[in-house]
Amino acid sequence: MPASPDHSATGSPATEHAVEWERKPKGTQANLPDYEAAYRTFNWKDVESAFDWSRTGKVNMVHEAIDRHAASAKSAQVALHYTNYDGRDEQYTFADLKRLSSRFGQALKALGVRRGDRVGVFLPRTPELYIVILGVHRIGAIPVPLFEAFMEQAIQDRLSDSEAVVCVTSPPLKTRIPLGQLPALRHLVLVGASGPLAANEASYEALMAQGADWLEPEWLTVDDGLIIHYTSGSTGKSKGVLHRQYAMVGHYQTAKWALDLRDDDRFWCTADPGWVTGTSYGIYGPWTLGVTSIVIGGRFDPDRWFHTIQRYRVTMWYSAPTAYRMLMSAGDAIPKQYDLSSLRHICSVGEPLNPEALKWVKKVTGIAPHETWWMTETGMQIVCNYRSADFKIGCTGKPFPGTYATVVDDQGRELPPGELGHLVVKPGWPAMMKEIWRDPAKYDEYFRIPGWYVSGDSAYKDADGFIWYQGRQDDVIKTAGERVGPFEVESALVAHRAVAEAGVIGKPDPIRGHIIKAFVALRKGFQPSEALKQEIAEFVKTNLAAHAAPREIAFVEKVPKTRSGKIMRRVLRAWDQGLPVGDISTMEE
Ligand code: WT7
Repeated sequence: MPASPDHSATGSPATEHAVEWERKPKGTQANLPDYEAAYRTFNWKDVESAFDWSRTGKVNMVHEAIDRHAASAKSAQVALHYTNYDGRDEQYTFADLKRLSSRFGQALKALGVRRGDRVGVFLPRTPELYIVILGVHRIGAIPVPLFEAFMEQAIQDRLSDSEAVVCVTSPPLKTRIPLGQLPALRHLVLVGASGPLAANEASYEALMAQGADWLEPEWLTVDDGLIIHYTSGSTGKSKGVLHRQYAMVGHYQTAKWALDLRDDDRFWCTADPGWVTGTSYGIYGPWTLGVTSIVIGGRFDPDRWFHTIQRYRVTMWYSAPTAYRMLMSAGDAIPKQYDLSSLRHICSVGEPLNPEALKWVKKVTGIAPHETWWMTETGMQIVCNYRSADFKIGCTGKPFPGTYATVVDDQGRELPPGELGHLVVKPGWPAMMKEIWRDPAKYDEYFRIPGWYVSGDSAYKDADGFIWYQGRQDDVIKTAGERVGPFEVESALVAHRAVAEAGVIGKPDPIRGHIIKAFVALRKGFQPSEALKQEIAEFVKTNLAAHAAPREIAFVEKVPKTRSGKIMRRVLRAWDQGLPVGDISTMEE
């Protein structure tokens, strides 16, 4: 796998290189025993019978993920194990989550929240985050998760675009919500407030102390909204990706066949529900299957992570390349101190997992991570390696049964093996986004090649049908697995008093995949200095988000732009790598 992404268009032949296989021992038992056979015969319709709504016609995620288990032998099974290794150590059964989400549903109703309304959920990774999301589902409203690292500008953009009527948050995070700029926002619900509340504030604890243990879910249709996740593109502000209730069909089946979840698993998805992995596979997939989830709060720490596997006897682990690489760089001595023998399957998501990191995880756990490729917009895993199937180390995998992903040219024609093109998916899989919130033109852009959903990734397919991800085709940056739009960072940069112009790119990095690098032209009267670089980076950190702040800043005379004013990030990438800039005939004087 090449270290740096390909930003060119289609056409250049991919270099064939020697591949190693990950061969599965004979008799590997998996929920999906024969990928090829399933691919030929599988039909999504057959999955619908796994849900009560297929018989009752009454749809609500909270019923399928929580209530029906609470009414079964699974009632007393732990759905959520939680610790933050700092004073909180808790567990919640399916019955507990039914009761608590019923109470929170009533609280929202008391605040006037109705079906279809959006509710911001801006909380650290705690049990309340999960209870709140479930409570929002119960009344048929739509949660808008906001990652806890977001600062004021990012929060304002997302709450104002979604027109959330309530935001559930905590006193320290509340300071980042610009109430005066958010006319639709009527109430804040504060988790852990002490002292007097403002007129538009309510205490989570006080609300939860009232009400009954049971609130019947608001009954919806499969086409009603489930959740909005904001994500970044190469242009403009972040966009709200709205999913529908029907997505649960996809969450359930991929969790069963790609994550290979079983009834008695203890599943650890390390993603935060602020991102789609943390909901599709931190909530919906495991819980529609009735599987126990482990959630860890607090900071990343290699010792803690391996300890978590030992302590909870984790059987299935779903994490991201950056995390695997950070564990690897912390050294072999740490995993050796822990008993990791409970693990039976591992998956990876967010960016390509390089063979070196894959092999290291296999060395210390005995299990090779399996790729899962998908996007916020796809809602569910699309291209994966499967537990029972041999795969080539470094490849992205094969399309999930019932989906068709392939590689095409600009006209939508499928390309022969080895040729680089657009990684596309045939529309119609169950978790495909319903819309881009209030932006139909943006939605249409994903279907610019007729007949296909266009991912924006480049890839090639090999002669054995494996897809190989090769990079993004646009300017979207993946840093430590998180998706950052250059425009948002550039907007934050130019708000600094010293910055005249800014252009932002992803710079290849061995641990984080890419880091954010900014090219900054200063205003008259400001001198380049290390201190100023730090000040500017800090400014982005405090206004936008720590993960979106540039780790490298280079001062330049001018940011290269086309005559129509578009930043030429291609030129910035060439400058960064010390490569020729290529054709710059469109550059302004
Ligand atoms: C982009 C989507 C949906 C889960 C989290 C990411 C990249 C994702 C892989 C993988 C190579 C990957 C792609 C994609 N990506 N998984 N297994 N191998 N690249 O969701 O934040 O919406 O980002 O992440 O570039 O387009 P996201």
